Amino acid sequence: MTRTIISGGLVVTAAEETEADVLIEDGEVAALAARGSAYAQGWTADRTIDATGKYVIPGGVDAHTHFDLPFGGTASSDTFETGTRAAAWGGTTTVVDFAVQSRGRALREGLDTWHAKAEGKCAIDYAFHMILSDVNEGTLKEMDLLVAEGITSFKLFMAYPGVFYSDDGQILRAMQRAAGNGGLIMMHAENGIAIDVLVEQALAAGRTAPRYHGEVRKALLEAEATHRAIALARVAGSPLYVVHVSAEEAVAELVRARDKGLPVFGETCPQYLFLSTDNLAEPGFEGAKYVCSTPLRPREHQAALWRGLRTDDLQVVSTDHCPFCFAGQKELGRDDFSKIPNGLPGVENRMDLLHQAVVDGHISRRRWIEIACAAPARMFGLAPRKGSITPGGDADIVVYDPTARQTLSAATHHMNVDYSAYEGKQITGQVETVLSRGETVIDRRQFTGRAGHGRHIPRATCQYLP
Ligand code: URP
Ligand code: ZN
Ligand code: ZN
Repeated sequence: MTRTIISGGLVVTAAEETEADVLIEDGEVAALAARGSAYAQGWTADRTIDATGKYVIPGGVDAHTHFDLPFGGTASSDTFETGTRAAAWGGTTTVVDFAVQSRGRALREGLDTWHAKAEGKCAIDYAFHMILSDVNEGTLKEMDLLVAEGITSFKLFMAYPGVFYSDDGQILRAMQRAAGNGGLIMMHAENGIAIDVLVEQALAAGRTAPRYHGEVRKALLEAEATHRAIALARVAGSPLYVVHVSAEEAVAELVRARDKGLPVFGETCPQYLFLSTDNLAEPGFEGAKYVCSTPLRPREHQAALWRGLRTDDLQVVSTDHCPFCFAGQKELGRDDFSKIPNGLPGVENRMDLLHQAVVDGHISRRRWIEIACAAPARMFGLAPRKGSITPGGDADIVVYDPTARQTLSAATHHMNVDYSAYEGKQITGQVETVLSRGETVIDRRQFTGRAGHGRHIPRATCQYLP
């Protein structure tokens, strides 16, 4: 039996903050005890990690990544190997990536493809959601089988006509199925049909620069789709999780639904909290670095997102990590913003950016852990193994230095992408050591992990429902 003690730190979970030592046995948390207590002094271990002056926090759970995703005429630039390594560097120990059903093909085929991409490559544990791009009798039946094998959430798109788009009838059918089998429907809520009209008109008028991506993907069209998704979920009697919420008006739709007591949940991402349309309007073609959907919004929207995170109208912050290099990938849209591959890198930055939000006074320390670790774990059926530091849970633990200073940069990050969306941003706080199921994957800022350590985690159904 291998035993590790983490001593001297402040253990911060979503529930409490305690000066406690943590005992790890064979990859699981065995016990917590008050620092210096007779009980803790009786522990023996193969090694002790000194966390004096540091936080001891659960490993992050990033419930929205896209590694090795064919999209926008190219493929996202992080593989499962590079992406999970970068995640570990940033204090994330579990990712939930999106397996994709290709149109006309079975869900099973898409899932097998994603298992093959990930198996033997990951530095940390991983799970899958399933993207439904073709809702029909066959795929509806397959949803039941997937839920039974731990793929318990399904993303649908009201955007991207001709690619991932589902119409309202298909959405309603998938929601009805999920209501019966316990699956959670995740929605990309933007009115893609209307957006495509505005894209065509913008391009015809010669408006081709990256900033027009933000202008055509209007906040009202995010809000309208969010409203419609909520109505369809209500009719179907299914819960709903809206991904990458960026517009104040969309948050208002979630608030209205939640005030009615509906099981409607929302996720936002660091890019919407820290970046804005000012970035999309950067000179030359620089704005392409910030093209994602839903798009970045004017910075006035950020206050509503922070408020939603504080009031629990938004429950989760994930990254929607979907990196494309500026050279050769974002450049595909140099003369036409609609050809810029949609997505931003960030899997390495989420825990730090949210710690900065604690420093800046937007959220409390425990709320940081709630939205980045505990809530995504419960939302996607990974608790109690993931998202907390609790006896019997996996020893996915980060020793976090709350006073270290760092500057985010492509020159120092570990994501396989040639730019940082946060280039030059100064952050207070940095990951020091990371354990994944008790194994050290980052040791005092050295990578000590390995591809293949990470396991696929079949998930339970949503544990967030009342
Ligand atoms: O721009 C984004 N968000 N790219 C990834 C695909 C998606 O819609 O999540
Ligand atoms: Zn999406
Ligand atoms: Zn996404």
